Amino acid sequence: MSLKNIRLEVMQFLEKDVDTLIQKYLIPVEKIWQPTDFLPNSESDTFFEEVKEIRELSKELPYDFWVVLVGDMITEEALPTYESWLMDVEGVGQIERNSWSKWVRHWTAEENRHGDVLNKYLYLSGRVNMKEIEKTTQYLIADGFDIGTDRDPYKNFVYTSFQELATYVSHNRVAKMAKDKGNKQLAKMCKIISGDEMRHHHAYCEFVERIFKIDPSQMMMAFHYMMKQKIAMPAHFLRESGDKISTAFEEFSNTAQRIGVYTSLDYVDILDKLIKRWEIDKITGLNDEAEKARDYLMKLPGRMVRLAERMRIPENSFQFKWVNPAVVK
Ligand SMILES: [Fe+2]
Ligand SMILES: [Fe+2]
Repeated sequence: MSLKNIRLEVMQFLEKDVDTLIQKYLIPVEKIWQPTDFLPNSESDTFFEEVKEIRELSKELPYDFWVVLVGDMITEEALPTYESWLMDVEGVGQIERNSWSKWVRHWTAEENRHGDVLNKYLYLSGRVNMKEIEKTTQYLIADGFDIGTDRDPYKNFVYTSFQELATYVSHNRVAKMAKDKGNKQLAKMCKIISGDEMRHHHAYCEFVERIFKIDPSQMMMAFHYMMKQKIAMPAHFLRESGDKISTAFEEFSNTAQRIGVYTSLDYVDILDKLIKRWEIDKITGLNDEAEKARDYLMKLPGRMVRLAERMRIPENSFQFKWVNPAVVK
């Protein structure tokens, strides 16, 4: 049987449990938070005062902070790309609406609130150039992306396990920075988003865990493949208006490193957490090739830490069109 057919069989076999996993890891619409829970109520007479407070508190936060928050928001707003990508994975039945596609739809529905709340907040803050941000978002969705996972569920679930934890780290740090500057409302908002990301991370990790039990060698090879080529952030494909070839992602990434929201040491730490979570050292029943892949993976965090520690980040802020330096210092 071809590898592709085996993957399809594994996905079909696991599908019977996906409804239970949806209940375990996702929260029903009537119970989960909504963006308006963290934003001024536009039906209320106090709306303008609340907006004024947002604008005042926003003045306490520095240039690089806004750049990072904008980049995080744009990443969330490119959700149509991620949903269509996941819908196309082998075993996810869009037409017959199997439990895997139900997972993707329900996951998307939760994720959709993230970009929504951040977008409204940024708009009200008065600190950013919304039109430039909107253009970048439209470019990002229009350009699409290729994260090197093909339609392979194994590779895709490694990617999402990693990515959800990376977004957890990022939103959580932004929350902490906002809190330190006395901006409780923004802190709460980012904190609650990070909570969603953590649940999603656990879900995707469990998918991978279950695959490891059935098809250990191929799951190991997929993990190895993804880490060898490095996990590209969705925002990797960012560009600002007017750019054809862009350094926007590199500069965004430098900004996030400079203020400590997401660093190359975090990347290594996430890899390390995945290795521990999936108990890579204890997996049995591997073929020779997968044994080699395991060895590579076990040594990778140590190697990457040394590289990460040597990395130097430019000290000065890069001027994005998203945030006007005349408005935000
Ligand atoms: Fe998200
Ligand atoms: Fe997420």
